[in-house]
Amino acid sequence: MKLEYGEDVWHDVLEKACLARNTIFSTHQIYPDSIIADIATACAELTGYGSTKNDFFEFFGRCFVRFWSHYGYDKFVRASGRTFRDFLQGIDNIHHQMRFGYPKMISPSMFVTKEHAGGALLHYNDIPGISSFSAGRSKRSGFATYVIGQLTQVASDFYDIDLDVDIVETSSDQKLTTHTTIFSLRFENTAFLDNLQQQLMREKAVAKMPAVKSALFLSLFPFCVIFDRGMIIINAGIKLKELIGADDFVGNKFGQYLTIRRPKMEGVYEEVRQVRLKSV
Ligand code: HEM
Repeated sequence: MKLEYGEDVWHDVLEKACLARNTIFSTHQIYPDSIIADIATACAELTGYGSTKNDFFEFFGRCFVRFWSHYGYDKFVRASGRTFRDFLQGIDNIHHQMRFGYPKMISPSMFVTKEHAGGALLHYNDIPGISSFSAGRSKRSGFATYVIGQLTQVASDFYDIDLDVDIVETSSDQKLTTHTTIFSLRFENTAFLDNLQQQLMREKAVAKMPAVKSALFLSLFPFCVIFDRGMIIINAGIKLKELIGADDFVGNKFGQYLTIRRPKMEGVYEEVRQVRLKSV
């Protein structure tokens, strides 16, 4: 804000958001979520030009990329892979790697489904607060435009891509604790096409190999779980069975004993399948 609009406007914004004019924010302090919303509202009211609170959320998303690049966090993005497609699949990991520096952080869960040559669908679930402080936070249902800001800025700064983003669906779970936003991202997804070609070649090669006996497979992967389209567990590795320690583990619903933590999803077969296909 200071760079774009100047110090005076920033101090006026703070005042309008009912904060002290000389407030300084620190990265390792935790603030209620309502502050960013109040600041965005104040920005929209004070700067004019018909901008809305959501426009400023998007602006903050774009600015945050400049901010974390300046503090060396760009290496997490660069390490996530060579292409924008790799980055999209690695956003959860980027946040996961930060949990040691920010132990109370509440990170989002994002995963890609339905890729095509012209883009992809990205699911974003905000996570209900789990830290002791989180009870004092508002629910993060307004961050969709902030995500759009970060995505477009990362796309242009790191991958030289012109990205178009639309929100195609928003929904909440019954208790209104988790909000899901589905974004349609439009960009030249050449990495997807390359991967598709490699996958076809792999499938051809695998078809020529002899089948592996299930007992051998289960001993090679002692923590694996095998389930059918109805998400009923039909077998599992020996160590996982020991760990769960329940006689009715095999034959039961996946969700009875297991939860998918990353990416956060309901455990519906089609969703799980889509994510698996993306990570091949
Ligand atoms: C290396 C770069 C990044 C850093 C350093 C970073 C840092 C963080 C931190 C510390 C939080 C937790 C905030 C809290 O608990 O109050 C957070 C949350 C969040 N981050 Fe990032 N982040 C990065 C990249 C991204 C990217 C690329 C996106 C989107 C495409 C993103 C979207 C979000 C969102 C939406 C939240 C709010 C979580 C929620 O839904 O409740 N972040 N980030």
